[in-house]
Amino acid sequence: MRNRVLVMHGINFSALDRRPAEHYGGLTYSQLEREITRFGRELDVTVNCFQSNYEGAFVEELHKASDYADGLLINPGAWTHYAWAIRDAVEIAALPTIEVHLSDVDSREEFRHVSVLEAVRVGKVAGKGVDGYREAIELLKAAW
Ligand code: DQA
Repeated sequence: MRNRVLVMHGINFSALDRRPAEHYGGLTYSQLEREITRFGRELDVTVNCFQSNYEGAFVEELHKASDYADGLLINPGAWTHYAWAIRDAVEIAALPTIEVHLSDVDSREEFRHVSVLEAVRVGKVAGKGVDGYREAIELLKAAW
């Protein structure tokens, strides 16, 4: 049975509580992890969280992901919009992948409309704050 979800956050999430609350809700990264872990319990999956501000570390974790996860929720932060190496690493991971954003990237600045993940993910949730992660787990379960 597939039930292991890896949740990956990229650059600047470690300072989440210092970022604009109107977009990101004002919570700390630890609070975000706790909420996602709670959603996982409620939806009967195990959640593992990873965060890095270093693209190389993020990519190396993606290389290992298929050893310990059955699916991926990924919010690379600003890397989403230009870091093609992350797109390639998601392809290497070869796991069903849902892209998640706290804010509604498609109604914000033009540069946020591009997602390098477009061709390598099976779903996307954006603009629903923390609750978007619950929806993303549901999408992942539907993809399994
Ligand atoms: C974000 C949206 C990105 O555009 C931004 O750079 C982030 C956070 C979000 O969750 O809304 O760092 O991924």
